[in-house]
Amino acid sequence: MDPVPELDQDPGFVSATDVADRLRLVDYLPDDKIAGTVYLAERLFKPILVEGPAGTGKTELAKSIAKATNARLIRLQCYEGLDEAKALYEWDYRKQLLHIQSAAGTKFDENDIFSEDYLLTRPLLEAIRAEDQVVLLVDEVDRLDIETEALLLEVLSDYQVSIPELGTIVARRKPLVFLTSNNSRELSEALKRRCLFLHIDYPSAEREREIILARVPGISDRLATQVAEIVRSLRSMDLKKPPSVSETLDWAQTLVILATDVVTDQELQDNLHVLLKNQGDIAVASKRFGGLSA
Ligand SMILES: Nc1ncnc2c1ncn2[C@@H]1O[C@H](COP(=O)(O)OP(=O)(O)O)[C@@H](O)[C@H]1O
Ligand SMILES: [Mg+2]
Repeated sequence: MDPVPELDQDPGFVSATDVADRLRLVDYLPDDKIAGTVYLAERLFKPILVEGPAGTGKTELAKSIAKATNARLIRLQCYEGLDEAKALYEWDYRKQLLHIQSAAGTKFDENDIFSEDYLLTRPLLEAIRAEDQVVLLVDEVDRLDIETEALLLEVLSDYQVSIPELGTIVARRKPLVFLTSNNSRELSEALKRRCLFLHIDYPSAEREREIILARVPGISDRLATQVAEIVRSLRSMDLKKPPSVSETLDWAQTLVILATDVVTDQELQDNLHVLLKNQGDIAVASKRFGGLSA
């Protein structure tokens, strides 16, 4: 395949502050570390490996960056058993077979059926070939089998895909790449080496308050502050599964629907199941909060 000239990269973000401002415009509230890492990744053309507890805004970060930059989001959702044919490309066997059948009796060139026309493009190849601006999200990469993880390496370090029958396809415009992981298993050193590392933990009460205000229409400042404080105190308890930001938002939404002004102890007790999904945790929290109000 002929080498293709690189397209001009978009100027992109001008500073970490610019990243933060533009994320806020699409209702994503970053902290300095998140904004700084995204800025650096874009400048260095490096993928970001985002790790941290569930529901802390890892996937949402990639989606929000796409939105903030008017880029197209291409998502590869990882799962056990995902293979090359679903992640990179596969040959359209049906079409190839039809071609062979229709050419029966005549001589045909085998190269014909290993050409672009017979190629089915999957997310990684699609991101590499894209001519428009793209954000590639490789979501929950820790769910991949370790052998499949190796498929990512060429894409992540060289922004290219090798197809034996066609040659090497090099990105004309390097996509910004996000990989997310819930840390269900240790990722390979080779993969980690290619990425910038970003750990997203639970937000501070102040940032969570802002997230609530941005994401729950109609909530009062006072209620958002109270919700954020209560969630913070829940996370300081020794719980099996502390509430995530998604659960905070569900609860805040619930309170708005119930037209709550201020959360009373009774309401908190009644709604703990929205925040906590483990009966043991609910018992622990119920006792603690009950004890406080007695
Ligand atoms: N910093 C943030 N700003 C705005 N919303 C956030 C933020 N972090 C989390 N959220 C909210 O929490 C939800 C869950 O986040 P998500 O990215 O799906 O979590 P995960 O870390 O498991 O990928 C999102 O849909 C979003 O509404
Ligand atoms: Mg996610």
